[in-house]
Amino acid sequence: MCGIVAYMGNRQAFPILIKGLKRLEYRGYDSAGVALLNNDLKVFKNHGKVSDLENILHDKDLSGNIGIAHTRWATHGEPNQVNAHPHYSESKNLAIIHNGIIENYGSLKEELINRGHSFESQTDTEVLIHLIEDIQINEQVDLQEAVRLALNHVVGAYAIVIIDRNEPNMLIAAKKGSPLVIGVGKDEFFVASDATPIIEYTKNVVYLDDEEVAFLNRNGELKIKTIRNKEKTPYVQKLELQLSAIEKGGYPHFMLKEINEQPRSIKDSMRGRLNAAKGIVTLGGIIDYEQKFVNANRIIIVACGTSWHAALVGEYLLEDLTRIPVEVEYASEFRYRNPVIYEDDIVIAISQSGETADTLAAVELAKSKGATILGVCNVVGSSISRVTHAGSYTHAGPEIGVASTKAFTAQVTILALMALSIADKKGSISKARFYQMLTEMEALPQKVEKALGTNEQILKIAKDFKDATNFLYLGRGYNFPLALEGALKLKEISYIHAEGYPAAEMKHGPIALIDENMPVVVIATRKGSYDKVISNIQEVKARKGIIIAIVSEGDAVVSQMADYVVEIPDTDEAFVPIVASIPLQLLSYHIAVLRGCNVDQPRNLAKSVTVE
Ligand code: G6P
Repeated sequence: MCGIVAYMGNRQAFPILIKGLKRLEYRGYDSAGVALLNNDLKVFKNHGKVSDLENILHDKDLSGNIGIAHTRWATHGEPNQVNAHPHYSESKNLAIIHNGIIENYGSLKEELINRGHSFESQTDTEVLIHLIEDIQINEQVDLQEAVRLALNHVVGAYAIVIIDRNEPNMLIAAKKGSPLVIGVGKDEFFVASDATPIIEYTKNVVYLDDEEVAFLNRNGELKIKTIRNKEKTPYVQKLELQLSAIEKGGYPHFMLKEINEQPRSIKDSMRGRLNAAKGIVTLGGIIDYEQKFVNANRIIIVACGTSWHAALVGEYLLEDLTRIPVEVEYASEFRYRNPVIYEDDIVIAISQSGETADTLAAVELAKSKGATILGVCNVVGSSISRVTHAGSYTHAGPEIGVASTKAFTAQVTILALMALSIADKKGSISKARFYQMLTEMEALPQKVEKALGTNEQILKIAKDFKDATNFLYLGRGYNFPLALEGALKLKEISYIHAEGYPAAEMKHGPIALIDENMPVVVIATRKGSYDKVISNIQEVKARKGIIIAIVSEGDAVVSQMADYVVEIPDTDEAFVPIVASIPLQLLSYHIAVLRGCNVDQPRNLAKSVTVE
């Protein structure tokens, strides 16, 4: 959601800001804007894409070496030009960009209106910049102090950058809840929602913590204070991200690139953590909490979206191997339903971005009740990874396509490593199965590579079903969460209605939908409840439904019944969700492309959901 970019230095700001906004497009947005300071403080904005903003700027003077820019994902007020950021203060001396939600903006706005302020937009953001200026004038303090004081009145989440017409050598940034990173170059500063707009200029970054305000001066000085006026020493870190990781590298879409990267991303997620020959599984990041984990009476996993599906696979894995009861919760439900949390609970938060607002809030709630919190995040330094007690990064590399692919398989990989390592320490798995599973895991990158070979066949299937209006996905056991994920992938990017179901549950409702127009994708791999799934396939066929079956290599039974058969390499049933993800991801990708959909930035969706 909302993307922030700001620049101050010796270069022209505009090209850096626009390129930065383009790098942040993947987060999801519906309008864009930029403010440039060059004697005058000019704001330009438009609804639509960054290219729509560029289209209205051809004849404008865009010079200046300080500026702020924003992509907005509408929350307060519709996505139009007026509500787009940046927003001016009452005097138009200040401009702000903001990601997050100011929850008490209504009462603040009312007070400000009573004091003579007038507002152009319906946004909470405009209220904040008016409040800052109001404090600056009425309390006769400088802007730095006014920002700090104003943020003490704010309830909600924010990442903000402020520019002042009268201070061409200064930018002010602050954050709470929403992410913000500062790039420190030679005589220049960058500020952004994540590191992607920054890496081609500098690898030195400072991540702001919650309730911190940063004062950036053109002379290279970076001062950080908390909103309670405590000075902080900036901690400069080195980014490990490579530029090539956030570019398409010859693929037509990021999603296809990311699907194809999975042999490597799975390998990277296992690197240094798994040695089958020696029978070793270690997750260095959680080593200090392993004993607590082994002794836990319960594990709770919180997540949203695709990460929630990975959590469900994790439930099956952890219960199967460690025999510790596991509950999987939608973070948004968990945080508001007064859940029972014990001090000896292990809570695992799964999040690709590490910024999902509901997951972050669920973590904070569980932490306040004394539980041990472990994170499984992909983005290094993200908010969730910073508030958890410990965790394991997925190392899938940046995921730009909004529909999650390689992050999902990496999350399942980490959960499998976690389950195996705890089961081994606990003695809840036989040595034979332990070794067998480690060997299978090591083979996963090759098996996933082989599964990518189904691409041409899947493209043909996609052509036959591109005009379908409904899809049903069925699976049992480990393949049930995968059925949910397959359906989610299809609806996210092709806008075809799709539902995932445990195959046996089909009888309790969805079977009523089945006729000759209903494509049913069944994950019918050889292990687990194979025979039962075969019965479910027969039930579909008896009602003339069309079966697209994902089967294990060499399957002779399902092939006789199904209309379309896609073979994938055989593996342990616990790892089928990793290998079988590939044809499901490819199916939704090809159908979406054939329907002319915007695969990487589907309508209404955001990559990083930083508001609840
Ligand atoms: C959004 C994205 C999904 C993602 C979900 C959770 O809805 O579009 O792809 O699965 O958020 O995101 P997280 O970053 O917490 O995994």
